[in-house]
Amino acid sequence: MAQQHTGVVAIYPGSFDPITNGHLDVIERGSRLFDRLIVSVLRNEAKAPLFTIEERIEMLRETVAPYANVEVDSFHGLLADYAMRREAGAILRGIRAISDYENELQMALMNRRLQPGLETVFLLAGETFSFISSRLVKEVISLGGNISGLVPPLVERRLRARLEP
Ligand code: PNS
Repeated sequence: MAQQHTGVVAIYPGSFDPITNGHLDVIERGSRLFDRLIVSVLRNEAKAPLFTIEERIEMLRETVAPYANVEVDSFHGLLADYAMRREAGAILRGIRAISDYENELQMALMNRRLQPGLETVFLLAGETFSFISSRLVKEVISLGGNISGLVPPLVERRLRARLEP
């Protein structure tokens, strides 16, 4: 019997404050693994972000424009509920180091408990990206350091305008 192929939709959730080349690596590889990838920014009132949700979405949209099967969205509330609303079968997350693993494991298990059919798929960060985080990039540029190659050029321009001393 011929196997029926149904497209797998994955959500790549995060704060993306701002998107880094590490995120972009996960997006690029995820876009090849899944039929459709939804990069979704958490609307979290509790955190004090550098960029507004709208700014982060704009930077993401410009950055992922070359990928036809990648879209950008935002969500609030439970990720597992949002994934169901978007009819996603998987959550995509990147892991840089062992230190990421503990938190990611807890989130993946909690999401599986909340929504048993929802799989979390982890991609190991490429070696060249494993030290990059949005937090460190912001710290380095605000102290006058060089961040070229760590974030997309359009993000670097925005970071310079906002943070360069
Ligand atoms: O980029 P981040 O900040 O590491 O992303 C964290 C994120 C957005 C994946 C996580 O905070 C999240 O999924 N929040 C939504 C709230 C939720 O569903 N919490 C319980 C499940 S663990």
